[in-house]
Amino acid sequence: MNFDKYIDRNEYPTMKWSKDFLTEHFGNADAIPMSVADMDFKAPATVIESLKKRVEHGIYGYEGKPESYFTALEEWYQNRHGWRIAREHIEPCPSILNAVSILINQHSEEGDGVILQSPVFFEFRMVVKSNDRVVAKNPLKLVDGKYQIDFDDLEAKATDPKNKVLILCNPHNPVGRVWTKAELEEIAEICKCHNVFVIADEIHGDFALPPYRYTPYLTISENAAQNSAACLSPAKTFNIAGAVDAITIIPNETHRHNFHNFAHRYQINKVNVFASAAIESAYIEGGDWLDALLVYLQGNIDLIQNFLESNDIDISLIKPEGSFLVWLDFRELGLDVKELQKFLAQEAQIALSPGYWFGREGAGFARMTIACPREILQRALDNLAEAVKKLS
Ligand SMILES: Cc1ncc(COP(=O)(O)O)c(C=O)c1O
Repeated sequence: MNFDKYIDRNEYPTMKWSKDFLTEHFGNADAIPMSVADMDFKAPATVIESLKKRVEHGIYGYEGKPESYFTALEEWYQNRHGWRIAREHIEPCPSILNAVSILINQHSEEGDGVILQSPVFFEFRMVVKSNDRVVAKNPLKLVDGKYQIDFDDLEAKATDPKNKVLILCNPHNPVGRVWTKAELEEIAEICKCHNVFVIADEIHGDFALPPYRYTPYLTISENAAQNSAACLSPAKTFNIAGAVDAITIIPNETHRHNFHNFAHRYQINKVNVFASAAIESAYIEGGDWLDALLVYLQGNIDLIQNFLESNDIDISLIKPEGSFLVWLDFRELGLDVKELQKFLAQEAQIALSPGYWFGREGAGFARMTIACPREILQRALDNLAEAVKKLS
């Protein structure tokens, strides 16, 4: 595991690095790509070996998920996060957003509201809209540099009978909060009381940085578990988004049955043999790799923090509690949304996801993917410092 090593990703049509993507979204094909939420690191050697072995077998026919796949998943969550997942609650699914979309369908009707805690992962809004539901915003509050849930507003939104579902991002993309047990308990109480179904997207669960700890939402209480579903995936954790599927945990028997039937009706229950192999090996042997990755990411976060402070740059880092995505506050620069986008892409030559993509509340911010060799991050920071100097 050499996270400092630069690997050319242009051999394949990589979204993040593609000139077309950079031109389309940033008007600069040469901007340093830091927008798409995947990593510029090789997957753990164990995953690569396991995929090679699967390829060598030569037959890739119809298969079930092997018993060992489920055991690997259960042991990962038990050992790493203290969560005992019941085997019968597991429903595999092609992707997290696929599961989110099905769950929205099953727990609301067209025209109903789905609560989003903005600024939040922009695809949630798209999935809500493409299902002809309406976004009901429960904006996060930024208090002393830390994002918090506005529980009064959440209660108000949950009380409205039109709002049937909350999509919880735990930990939160893009603001990097690892929600505490107490915060999750409060969400669970409000949602249970007003019959709002909780879809807990926990794809970033493995990224909690010490001393923060990821609390799986379904472990909060039996009540919470019966009124929700968790969407899990090792896609981000091991940088294997293009090679894996996802896992849905649905403790309520009726809800699970409905989900299962839906997957059957739309024939989305086929097994990808490479996804099974990648996931199983990552969960069995990927722990050391992940530990090393988290240390490297913390080093990158420290680099940003120290760089901004020592160069006295008017940009604030919202301290990430667990993520390879950092949320930067550019409001002190006094640029409007369009000016900021131009400043970042043209002057600083870096492609960051503009904050407004994550909801109006994100205006003046931008998200930076920091899972890249430190040398690339340093180059991006130098560019930024230079551009800020010119600005003043
Ligand atoms: C919070 C969150 N959920 C889901 C996804 C995408 O998951 P999938 O590719 O499995 O649909 C992402 C990717 O950035 C994400 O950040």
